Amino acid sequence: MSHLLNLGVLISGRGSNLQAIMDEIDRGEVAARILVVVSNEPEAYGLKRAEGGGIPSIVVNHREYESREAFEERLIEVLRDYGVELVVLAGFMRVLTSHFLKAFPMRVVNIHPALLPAFPGLGVQEKAVNYGVRFSGCTVHFVDEGVDAGPIIAQAVVPVFPTDTGDTLAERILRMEHRIYPKVIQWISEGRVRVEGRRVFVHGANFGEEIAFIEPVV
Ligand code: GRF
Repeated sequence: MSHLLNLGVLISGRGSNLQAIMDEIDRGEVAARILVVVSNEPEAYGLKRAEGGGIPSIVVNHREYESREAFEERLIEVLRDYGVELVVLAGFMRVLTSHFLKAFPMRVVNIHPALLPAFPGLGVQEKAVNYGVRFSGCTVHFVDEGVDAGPIIAQAVVPVFPTDTGDTLAERILRMEHRIYPKVIQWISEGRVRVEGRRVFVHGANFGEEIAFIEPVV
């Protein structure tokens, strides 16, 4: 069997992206395995999902560390102990500093529920609705020192309807999140992803169905 990419998934909450990745791995669509799930929130529902999938999970509660660096040091230790090759942020609500990123250079990915560089930060589905944009979506990107700022690997676009609220748009975007995140992990596992400066090239991926999904009316 070819090499399975060793993942560590970092969460803070619901964990629906974690679940989508677990499901695609189980379906044989993603050649990876999740070695450990780490949550900074002891009550994160995603911890139950990990348990349901027989995946070890660890809580690293940032409140118990005296500094961001000490918190990150512990994260690094756990991820290294498990032999993690790719760190997957899936609703992880702590900003990672260069201290952490140096331990996993270009080996940390994130999903964000907007079309970056529009609407970085929090509460962005509601912000997109209130701003009046006609399209929004989600972005999978490598993590660098900026917030929601690293090189973009894939994006999916969804329409924003006049009747939308932040919640209805979030739901529509989330369905696309669950499609593109596992795909990106599969590409990385196949060694098809190359980064040149800010630009990310995915060998052999389809534009329109893979790299830049456009979801018609739902
Ligand atoms: C998602 O909307 C993701 O884009 C954002 O946080 C949310 C996490 O949801 N970064 P879940 O915990 O994966 O269900």
